[in-house]
Amino acid sequence: MSTDKNSKGLDDIVVTSSELTLIDGSSGKLSYCGYDISNLTSNCSFEEVIFLLWHGSLPSINELDNFKAKINQNRHIPPQLISLIRQSPKESSTMDLLRTCVSYLSSFDSDLLDTSSDSRMNASIKLLAKIPTILCYSERIRHNQELIEPNPDLDIAANFLYMLKGKLPDDSFTRIFDKCLIIHADHGLNASTFAARVTASTLSDVYSAITSAIGTLKGPLHGGANEAVMIMLNEIKKPENAQNYILDKLKKKDRIMGFGHRVYKTIDPRAVILCNMSKQLQSDYGGVLYDISMEIENIMDREKNLKPNVDFYAASVYTMLNIPSHLFTPIFAVSRISGWCAQILEQYVDNRLIRPRANYIGYKSRTFIPLKDR
Ligand SMILES: CC(C)(COP(=O)(O)OP(=O)(O)OC[C@H]1O[C@@H](n2cnc3c(N)ncnc32)[C@H](O)[C@@H]1OP(=O)(O)O)[C@@H](O)C(=O)NCCC(=O)NCCS
Repeated sequence: MSTDKNSKGLDDIVVTSSELTLIDGSSGKLSYCGYDISNLTSNCSFEEVIFLLWHGSLPSINELDNFKAKINQNRHIPPQLISLIRQSPKESSTMDLLRTCVSYLSSFDSDLLDTSSDSRMNASIKLLAKIPTILCYSERIRHNQELIEPNPDLDIAANFLYMLKGKLPDDSFTRIFDKCLIIHADHGLNASTFAARVTASTLSDVYSAITSAIGTLKGPLHGGANEAVMIMLNEIKKPENAQNYILDKLKKKDRIMGFGHRVYKTIDPRAVILCNMSKQLQSDYGGVLYDISMEIENIMDREKNLKPNVDFYAASVYTMLNIPSHLFTPIFAVSRISGWCAQILEQYVDNRLIRPRANYIGYKSRTFIPLKDR
């Protein structure tokens, strides 16, 4: 058994083969099924990208229409789930609530025990369609607001903003949000996707795999970083405060959220796209969030040679889209559900139980002492 210290955290360990996402960490490139991410964000909708990840090719107009219709038909959530959301403490974290709701949803799927690929694809569509509804309902219930029914005429991005705010979103906001969903859709064997694959590899169901993934995404070293970035931007307040703030944190050996990446050794290509969006939004709507972010980026480059990751500019972009920061990580799930499902569907097709080993460093053999003598 390998006891190489680099296997801690599974750095660079290859555990499976995949046709989904290629990450070139040294040149900062990312593609889904062979299409560069910047090409997809410029030319596709989120729905086209999900179809690509789930079927391996971009949809025809007909296929896309049918796919969207299936998503639309599955957006409503059972009344029991709405009651559960209403009964949850208002101060509970949205990620905790989302994890619980996704787990509970399995009770309403009569095909749960059907292990056919059609049934697993259907479960994926149900989760993709219902997660935005769960989030918007939980947010509106938290603020004692009336629930907004899903709008079948709207795509995922527009419908989410509509159900959250209660009014039809501005086209430019919708397009930017749609691109954000594409950017976050899949990213190889990141921690939450790996968690989903591990669960699927035991031949457990789609809901269980996604519940594992949501619990894993929540952590501050993974999806939770975007909310932490916004807390930092709020604390810094203006660009001229950034230098002292960051140097002080680095002196205390604190991590600066939104920087560094296990795979990218140069800038994360998703951060490049989000940085441009942040710049555009500030120039259109004012504020200083992009300026503060740029200042931090320069300081981190100079001091630590660390580049921003996807979470860094997502924080300012979402804030300028008027999305509250406690929804940043849940929104990651609205998008990443597409990648999680693509990855577990791939896992089921060519499954092998994922079961690594630990290098035991504890006692080899101890003399047992009965309870009364200890
Ligand atoms: C993402 C992350 C966990 C990847 O970590 P990793 O590849 O395991 O890198 P390591 O934890 O081994 O860190 C390597 C060095 O860089 C430093 N480093 C890495 N990220 C850092 C950060 N965000 N701020 C300050 N220092 C950082 C570490 O302190 C370490 O320094 P050392 O060698 O002097 O101890 C890490 O960069 C991080 O914690 N980032 C902040 C959280 C975040 O933005 N997560 C979202 C990821 S998309």
